[in-house]
Amino acid sequence: MLPVERLLFVFLANILVVVTLLFYQATASSSGQNERYYTQVGTAGGNSFPPAFKVLEGSSIRCSIWCWQTPRCLGFYWTVSSMLCQLFNASVYYWKPSWGAIADQQSEFYMYNATPQRLHFFNCSQISAAYSAFCTRAMDNNTNTHFFDGGSCIHTNNEIKPWWEADLAQTAVIVYATIYNRIDMSPERLNNFEILVDNVFCGRVNVTQHFVVTNVTCGLTGSKVRLVSQLTEHLTMCEFEPYGFYIQ
Ligand SMILES: *[C@@H]1O[C@H](CO)[C@@H](O)[C@H](O)[C@H]1NC(C)=O
Ligand SMILES: *[C@@H]1O[C@H](CO)[C@@H](O)[C@H](O)[C@H]1NC(C)=O
Ligand SMILES: *[C@@H]1O[C@H](CO)[C@@H](O)[C@H](O)[C@H]1NC(C)=O
Ligand SMILES: *[C@@H]1O[C@H](CO)[C@@H](O)[C@H](O)[C@H]1NC(C)=O
Ligand SMILES: *[C@@H]1O[C@H](CO)[C@@H](O)[C@H](O)[C@H]1NC(C)=O
Repeated sequence: MLPVERLLFVFLANILVVVTLLFYQATASSSGQNERYYTQVGTAGGNSFPPAFKVLEGSSIRCSIWCWQTPRCLGFYWTVSSMLCQLFNASVYYWKPSWGAIADQQSEFYMYNATPQRLHFFNCSQISAAYSAFCTRAMDNNTNTHFFDGGSCIHTNNEIKPWWEADLAQTAVIVYATIYNRIDMSPERLNNFEILVDNVFCGRVNVTQHFVVTNVTCGLTGSKVRLVSQLTEHLTMCEFEPYGFYIQ
């Protein structure tokens, strides 16, 4: 095709993608299915696009529908030169910083709900409880960081590698977690710990100066989230907020 024809083709294809997505969003809402709305998040540059878990051949419209219908698809990459449709899962988060725009490459990324959503826990447990400061206090939506005044922080006994864990309502990609420390006393107790998702390591905090609130990046998929301290100490924590995407 001539450059002008290519441009026109890409332009029309994009309009169709948008119309299709709006149509699917409308039908999904009215039929009560999970909504999936894709946002264009970048232009591919060179070899820096993320690894796809499924590659199909077809138009950009079909690509958006395939992603829509495929569990675990959080986004897709489509390029006019090959008509290849590449579906992505959570791995896109690791690659995002390396995406770069190349003006003459007609390739596009779309990603579902590009901003991670607050996820919610159901059941929880912890190694032991002191002062009746049970595990639910780290998931009660109350981020008060004063143990006695707030009554909203967990507290274990003095243990070797004390832990806290909770289950998500559904399997999710946990992109990051925001963790609130106890600050009225002994903030150093919440340090040198690991976050595990379904028993797989996904993040660590080991700092020289204690934190009040911190984000731990993760990126794994699962439903059981565990925080394990590497210290022999009491474990105290005031809230554990997971952010990411439910994937079913
Ligand atoms: C995502 O896809 C990549 C590439 O196929 C694969 O290596 C990875 O295990 C997948 N991750 C998830 C959470 O499905
Ligand atoms: C926390 O907030 C979420 C969303 O508003 C709600 O579903 C959940 O029940 C709340 N948890 C508690 C313990 O209040
Ligand atoms: C919570 O625990 C109960 C009892 O063990 C179990 O039946 C239920 O599936 C759990 N819920 C979640 C969301 O893990
Ligand atoms: C944590 O930090 C301390 C002090 O910097 C260091 O000695 C220790 O090896 C670190 N632990 C891990 C598991 O990285
Ligand atoms: C954690 O990350 C979120 C999303 O990027 C941001 O809004 C928040 O300010 C961060 N919190 C901290 C303590 O860095």
